[in-house]
Amino acid sequence: MDLSRFPRRRYTPFTTPIEPMPRFSAALAASCPGGVGPEVWIKRDDMLGLFPGGNKTRKLEFLVADALAQGADTLITCGAPQSNHCRITLAAAVKEGLQCRFVIEERVAGSYDEHGSGNHFMFRLLGVEAITVVPGGSPMAPAMQQVADELAAQGRKGYIIPGGGSNAVGGLGYVACAQEMQQQFFDQGLRFDRLVVGSGSSGTHGGLVAGFLGNHIDVPIVGIGVSRDPADQQPLVIKEAQAVADLLGLGLSVTPEDVTCVGGFWQPKYSVPNAKMVEAVQLLARTEAIPLDPVYTGKIMAGLIGLARQGHFQPGEKVLFLHTGGLPSLFAYAREVLGQAPVAD
Ligand SMILES: Cc1ncc(COP(=O)(O)O)c(C=O)c1O
Repeated sequence: MDLSRFPRRRYTPFTTPIEPMPRFSAALAASCPGGVGPEVWIKRDDMLGLFPGGNKTRKLEFLVADALAQGADTLITCGAPQSNHCRITLAAAVKEGLQCRFVIEERVAGSYDEHGSGNHFMFRLLGVEAITVVPGGSPMAPAMQQVADELAAQGRKGYIIPGGGSNAVGGLGYVACAQEMQQQFFDQGLRFDRLVVGSGSSGTHGGLVAGFLGNHIDVPIVGIGVSRDPADQQPLVIKEAQAVADLLGLGLSVTPEDVTCVGGFWQPKYSVPNAKMVEAVQLLARTEAIPLDPVYTGKIMAGLIGLARQGHFQPGEKVLFLHTGGLPSLFAYAREVLGQAPVAD
């Protein structure tokens, strides 16, 4: 599959490592039935470029190249108040000499705090041009179009990036990741039984599904929901994977059998801390010194841990966890993660 026909900017000058996690795997096995669990490895997409990078970096390589090809001078995007996607989009804009504006959706009432820590602080440090805050549930596309119209009235040109950078162009970033992993599997002589990824706006999961199908990579992908259970999440992922496959001209139909979604680990609500997340963040920090974030990767790793304890993996099965980044919001939830503030079950 040839991605070179799509314009792309490069924000990471290396391949992110795939590493074993022996101490984490041993600690996890000790808490699994019979004291046996999977052998867990990690793909370090938390080390991607930009400030600090994560899965959005890969999507933005294609999205920003498209924006530049269209002559845009401003990137417009949307997200929750602690959005990694907004921060990384802003970082890409800074690097390219573009302006950047956000529409922030207060999914938890009162959660936007201009002087807050984590990503709020980063937004201001990197110099976001303007932020419009709207209540949870507001339609985001018209709100971003309004920002684009205001810019157009001033003779400027905005480029709208959907939430999470998840459309066909953004999904190409995770097709590129699929190809990168395929090469690493070959070079390192690795054979995995399962890949565990986060599933939110679905560009990561959907892009990987399209990339694995298109490159005939025969490793089942398990998507852990960060905001929806499977009945709501699976159709989104199928739609995203199909859009990416169509853009690539793969000529295939993505079916429900291609998309495995797991729920039950994100509750009570998107971004609200829970006890399983706290356990996962502490366990990885204290066994491998790798930070997870409370909103996404902490809950995704909680899913991997939960599946292992429920016996979903064969003993000794080799499982690859995709670390998609998100470090700054860890600082915004420091007390919860240290067990010094109450969290949901
Ligand atoms: C750190 C992190 N992990 C995972 C996700 C989920 O990825 P996606 O939106 O592509 O489903 C996000 C989305 O914002 C994220 O910031």
